[in-house]
Amino acid sequence: MPDWLITGCSELLTLRGAIPRRGRALGELGIIRDGALLVRDDRIAAVGPRRRIERLRGARRAEKLNLQGRVVLPGFVDSHTHLIFPGSRAAEYEQRIAGATYEEIARAGGGIRSTVERLRLSPARELKARASANLHEFGAHGTTTIEAKSGYGLDWKSELKILEILYELHQEQPIDIHSTFLGAHTVPPEFRGRSDAYVNLLARRWIPTVATAGLAEFCDVYCDRGAFTVEQARTILTAGRACGLVPRVHAEQLERTGAARLAIELAAASADHLEKVSRADIRALGLSNVVCTLLPGCCFHLGLGRYGPARELIEAGAILGLATDFNPGTSPTLSMPMILSLACTQMRLTPAEAIAAATVNPAYSLRQHDRVGSLEVGKYADLAAFDVADYREIPYYFGVNLCSLTMKRGTVIHLKNM
Ligand code: NIG
Ligand code: FE
Repeated sequence: MPDWLITGCSELLTLRGAIPRRGRALGELGIIRDGALLVRDDRIAAVGPRRRIERLRGARRAEKLNLQGRVVLPGFVDSHTHLIFPGSRAAEYEQRIAGATYEEIARAGGGIRSTVERLRLSPARELKARASANLHEFGAHGTTTIEAKSGYGLDWKSELKILEILYELHQEQPIDIHSTFLGAHTVPPEFRGRSDAYVNLLARRWIPTVATAGLAEFCDVYCDRGAFTVEQARTILTAGRACGLVPRVHAEQLERTGAARLAIELAAASADHLEKVSRADIRALGLSNVVCTLLPGCCFHLGLGRYGPARELIEAGAILGLATDFNPGTSPTLSMPMILSLACTQMRLTPAEAIAAATVNPAYSLRQHDRVGSLEVGKYADLAAFDVADYREIPYYFGVNLCSLTMKRGTVIHLKNM
C-alpha cells in the first residue's frame, strides 16, 4: 500500500474538535483552505495547510494525489441501514401513490412481512450479491462506514443467514459494517397474537446466542404502533445490554409511544426517526448522550409532510445525526448526499450542520469516533472528494452524484471523472 500525499483540496473539512457535536458546535467543520493530507498505511499521518504538509519528511516519497480544487471531507458514516433485503417493493410504492398508507399496506400483509417472506426463500448467495453491489454504491456516494440491521428474517435460520452475510461482507469488501440485531422488527407471522412469546424467545434465546457468537454489536427494536410496545422493547433491549449489545431504538415514527424516553433510560447509542417526539422529549434528549438520528429519506419516500424536528433538537443541545435508513419499504436510497439535501431544504439544517450530522456524530453513535468521522492524525484515512469548489454545493446539487473519489483506510475504492 503506497503512502499518499493528497493536495489540491480547495476546502478540506477536517471536522476536528468536540465529539459529539451539540448546539452551535454542530456547524463547525474545521475547514482548511488549500489543505493537504499525508496518509501512511491505513491512517492519517498529517493534516494541514498544503505548504506545511508538502515540506514534511515522508511527503517527498509518497504517491501524489492532486484533487484539483475539489472539496474533501471525512467519509460519511451511515448509522442506520437495513442492508440485506431481497428486492424492491415497487408495487407498494404505486399503491401509496394511489392513496393507500404505509400502515394499511402493512396490515394487509404487505410491508415488512412481504420482504420477510421473500427473504426467507432467497439463497444467501443472492442476498449477498445484491448487498455487495449496494455496498459498492455506498462507496461511490462517499460513504465509508455503515451500520446494518438484521430484521427481514424473523426466524432463527433467516436472521442468522443475514448476520452471517454481514459478517462475511465486512471481511471481504472495504466498507466497514457494524451489525445490529433487529429480531424485533415486527411480530413474525408464526407468532401473530402471541407477541409476548416472541419477545421472550428473543430475550432468552436469540439475543444471548447472537451476542456470544459475536454476530452483532447492537440490538434494536421497532417500538411503534403496529410493532412492539415500550414494555416489550425494554425487555428486549435490557436482555441485549446484559450480554453486551448496545441499544438502538426505532422511536416515535408513526406515533409518540415513549420510546425516546426508553432510549434515554437505557443509555441507548441512538434513537432514530423521532418525527413524533414531544417538546418534553426533545428537552430530555437534549440533556442525554443519545444520538438523535433523523431519517428524512423516509418522509420523502412516504410523501409525508412532517420531517423530524431537527432545529428544536439542536436548540435543546441534542446530538443530531442523519442516516439513510436504506430499506425497500420506506427509504430506498443509499445516498448520503441526497439525505443532506433533504435535511437542508426540509429540516432547515445548514449545509455545515448536515455534514457534521453525517460524519462525526454518527461515528459517535457507532462508538467508532476514535477511528472515523473526522480527518485527524491517527484516524483512518477514510475520506470523500466532491467535484465542487464550495462545501455548500454538496447538498445544493441534488439527484446527481458528485463524489469523484472515495478512500477507505488509505485505499482508493471509487474514482470518477478524474
Ligand atoms: O426504518 N420502521 C421500521 N423499519 C423500516 C421500514 C422497513 C420496511 O418497511 O421494510 C424503517 O422505516
Ligand atoms: Fe429503519
